[in-house]
Amino acid sequence: MSDCVMTPLDSSRQDSSSLISKPGEPGIDAFIKSVQLRLDQNLRVLFKRLPNVAPRLVEAMAYACLGEGKRIRPALVYAACQVFGGDQVAADRAAMAVEILHAYSLVHDDLPAMDDDDLRRGQPTCHVAFDEATAILAGDALQSLAFEVLVDSALGDAPLIAAQQVSLVRVLAQAGGTAGMAAGQSLDLDIAGSDNRGAHSENSLAKVLAEVHFHKTACLIRASLEMGALVAGVASDSAEMTAIKTYGESIGLAFQIQDDILDATSSTAVLGKQVGADEQQEKLTYPAVLGLDRSQREMQRWSQRACEALAELAPAYSVGILQNMSSFLMRRSF
Ligand code: IPE
Ligand code: IPE
Ligand code: MG
Ligand code: MG
Ligand code: MG
Repeated sequence: MSDCVMTPLDSSRQDSSSLISKPGEPGIDAFIKSVQLRLDQNLRVLFKRLPNVAPRLVEAMAYACLGEGKRIRPALVYAACQVFGGDQVAADRAAMAVEILHAYSLVHDDLPAMDDDDLRRGQPTCHVAFDEATAILAGDALQSLAFEVLVDSALGDAPLIAAQQVSLVRVLAQAGGTAGMAAGQSLDLDIAGSDNRGAHSENSLAKVLAEVHFHKTACLIRASLEMGALVAGVASDSAEMTAIKTYGESIGLAFQIQDDILDATSSTAVLGKQVGADEQQEKLTYPAVLGLDRSQREMQRWSQRACEALAELAPAYSVGILQNMSSFLMRRSF
């Protein structure tokens, strides 16, 4: 991806790529950095092309998308595409779409009616920087934009055939909706602070928790891998697709467990979002149910499961980049 280096991201917070380079993970820092640069450049071009009927709305959307996100989901799109021999240009639309949908989910997640957070990516949340109604509408319009990006030729050349576009729309829609993120967010809110929690055994709470985390987070992470594979021409019903989806849902679960752990152990300055928010909102999290040590072990277990899924691909494909991505995700400090 060395040909995609464009303008550097602003960086008042810690540079995520500097956290990535570890023995045994050659090149992952450069890879992530190049994804961040490429995606940011593409998003900036996209926002300039949007109809500016309601300038404040577009400004709020850009604000939510162009902050210092880690860009993990686009990195997974490009990584999966690369593993299956696809062209990074073919992955651009999918990478943008998944990040835009993710940005919408964050805007709504932070709203007073949901997690009521004031800080995101080291800056005021969208509803604080603008206002609540604008943030709701920005989330709505970002969700629409995610799908538009996949299919609209007016936004620039899209080297995807119609059948691929339809598959990408299906995968992203399923990951964001009633079988995915929105469902997980709904379960997350239902169970937070619920009086019924005392009636559950630890085992049954852990099952509910896995269900919440799978839907709210792992589904979109799995979709990122699936979309990267689709643009590389992998068939939806192939053994390769099954393996990459298993990898995706496993690292997705591990990712949300780490998010819970960091909320309990990190600092607001490092995370760029308020720590301790889960405890304050009485969220059902891994540390709350299992404690920190067992949460770490659970995260390792899912990471191991992800490696096993990759092993199924390894004889035929060079999966190093995905191994390195999963190591990075387990080690990340924000
Ligand atoms: C935050 O996602 C929401 C979760 C699903 C845990 P990220 O940790 O990927 O947030 P950004 O995009 O880097 O800000
Ligand atoms: C949110 O999970 C997952 C989403 C779908 C946005 P969290 O509520 O734990 O995410 P953060 O910690 O606010 O980023
Ligand atoms: Mg939440
Ligand atoms: Mg939240
Ligand atoms: Mg969290």
